[in-house]
Order: sequence, then C-alpha cells, then structure tokens
Amino acid sequence: MKTKITELFEIQHPIIQGGMHYVGFAELAAAVSNAGGLGMITGLTQKTPELLAHEIAKCRAMTDKPFGVNLTFLPTVTSPDYPGYIKAIIDGGVRVVETAGNNPQKWLPMMQEAGVKVIHKCTSVRHSLKAQAIGCDAVSVDGFECGGHPGEDDVPNFILLPRAADELKIPFVASGGMADGRSLVAALALGADGINMGTRFIATQEAPVHQHVKEAILAASELDTRLVMRPLRNTERVLKNAAVERLLEKERSLGARLKFDDIIEEVAGVYPKIMLDGAMDAGAWSCGMVAGLIHDIPTVKVLIDRMMAEAESIISRRLAGILRP
Ligand SMILES: Cc1cc2nc3c(=O)[nH]c(=O)nc-3n(C[C@H](O)[C@H](O)[C@H](O)COP(=O)(O)O)c2cc1C
Repeated sequence: MKTKITELFEIQHPIIQGGMHYVGFAELAAAVSNAGGLGMITGLTQKTPELLAHEIAKCRAMTDKPFGVNLTFLPTVTSPDYPGYIKAIIDGGVRVVETAGNNPQKWLPMMQEAGVKVIHKCTSVRHSLKAQAIGCDAVSVDGFECGGHPGEDDVPNFILLPRAADELKIPFVASGGMADGRSLVAALALGADGINMGTRFIATQEAPVHQHVKEAILAASELDTRLVMRPLRNTERVLKNAAVERLLEKERSLGARLKFDDIIEEVAGVYPKIMLDGAMDAGAWSCGMVAGLIHDIPTVKVLIDRMMAEAESIISRRLAGILRP
C-alpha cells in the first residue's frame, strides 16, 4: 500500500506503533519497523537523555529500517530535560518524533531543522488544526476508544476521523480501537492515511512486558476499560482492576475536592511494577477498548502481514465485489 504516511515516513505499510510507557522499548520498536511499519521508542521511559541515546543505539542495531521516538510533553512544573532528549534523538539519527501532551511548538524548530518529521497526537479537530498551523508534518488523531489519554471531548473515531479529514490538509493516522485489517480499511475509508496502534501491539511476542499483561488483554472484553482522573481533566482509559476500583471510589467520595495527591498511590510509578513485574493490581495502566478484539499473541510480523493481507482482500474482493458491474 502507498499512502501519504508511507511516503512521509518512508515505510512499507501505513501502520505506526504509538509510544507506550514501559512498553515502547527497542525490542518492540525494532520488531514493528522490521515488519514494515513504524516502531516507536518511548522517550520518557528512559530516565535520562543518555539512557535514551543508549536505547536508540540498541534499536539501530536491531533494525536498518526507520523508527521513531515518542516525546510526551507533560503538564508538570518541573519538566524533564526535553532539550537533552531532543539532542539524543537528533544525534541518534532518528528521523521521526511522535509528540504528545502539551503543545510542541517550542520544540519544533530544533527537530525540524535537523530533518526530523513530527507527528503530533491529538484528541480533537481543534487540536489537530492547531498542530497543522504550528507546522507539524502529520497528526495522529486519537478517538475516545483509545487506550491512554482520550482528552475530554469523548468523540469516537467514526465521527472524529471524517471530521479531521474534512478540515486537515496535512496527512493523519487514525488511532484508538485499531486492531486488524478491517480497522485499517475503515480508517482509510474515513479519510485517514494510515493507522496507529497501542494496545494491539502489547499482545505480541516481541513486546518486552510481563506475560501477565498480555494475558490480561486477551482476557478483557470491550467492556472492561474505565475512565479515571476525569475530575482532574486528565482523563485516562485504563483496564479495570482492584486499584482502579479503589481510585474510582475515591473520585466518587471526594467529588470536586479530589486532588492528584489523593490518588498518587494508584497512578504514580506503577508502570514498572505492572509491565516488568506483572503485578496486575499495582495501579492503573492504559488499555484501549480494542482489548475486546484481541485474541492472540502473534509475532509482530505475523500480525502486520495478516492485517495487510486482510485489508487488501477486503478492498479488492469484498468491497469491489459489492459494486454493480
Ligand atoms: C500501556 C499504554 C501506555 C501508553 N503510553 C503512552 C505514552 O507514554 N505517551 C503517549 O503519547 N501515548 C501513550 N499511549 C497511547 C498510545 O500511544 C496510543 O495512542 C493508543 O494506545 C491508541 O489506542 P489503542 O490502544 O486503542 O490502540 C499509551 C497506551 C498504552 C496502551
């Protein structure tokens, strides 16, 4: 397949792996890139720019294909060493950055002057237009279904994607709820130039996370995610577990008085315990409704090849067959 996204990022298939905290290590990013998609190392999972440089070098040794780095701009007062991370990205020869969170405008010149293409993750049409206006090369449009932070507008992809297609001039990928060849064809039909997947890539052989995490995704249905931190306007879609039930009970009982400190135990520093140790009730972790469509743990290559074959068959047989001669 050839789309604006495959051309822009010089990849074979229009499939991107979104940044995922404590999941997006070199092993997964390289596997996705080797399979013809665009893998993404999660920048802030590496605690320092030096560690990110090391992770980039490790990924480079595992693939000769393009891969990217996710940089999430957090709304915190004491911010991570973003200039240091960007330097590590540029020095490591990485040509694609997926930005997320706060407006990346301040950092665009530094990246783009070094030849880095920037795809910004947005959960609304207005944020997508803003990303376009400040000069991002592409956007990743995340619908309400998505694992992680869906924003506060709650617009699902069947509305959000055609709305984005009507307004945007730059290429965009559909993100949230994407699982298979059907998702890819639907996203293309709605106007996207490719797709971005998070949760689906966790349930793969190469995802370097504890087996319990993969099994939890397989066991989950589309009814098993919850939205947390809505009262703080930092909504996150997570898989339900004991910690999430506790967190939601605090939200209910404290109401408008809820502060981040009240739920710190359920959300701060929990990712290594879950992703690396497999302690599934240690806290709230991002997971999309798409868990209901995930029933196996294939290699990344089997997954991507299967998706592309299914997508091509839907377009050239099922859809073409519907047309009257
Ligand atoms: C476990 C997990 C961790 C994530 N961490 C991040 C992150 O650190 N930064 C980011 O921009 N997006 C993060 N995301 C969002 C994904 O990059 C992607 O946008 C989202 O998963 C797409 O929805 P899907 O899960 O339905 O495919 C995370 C998602 C998951 C499931």
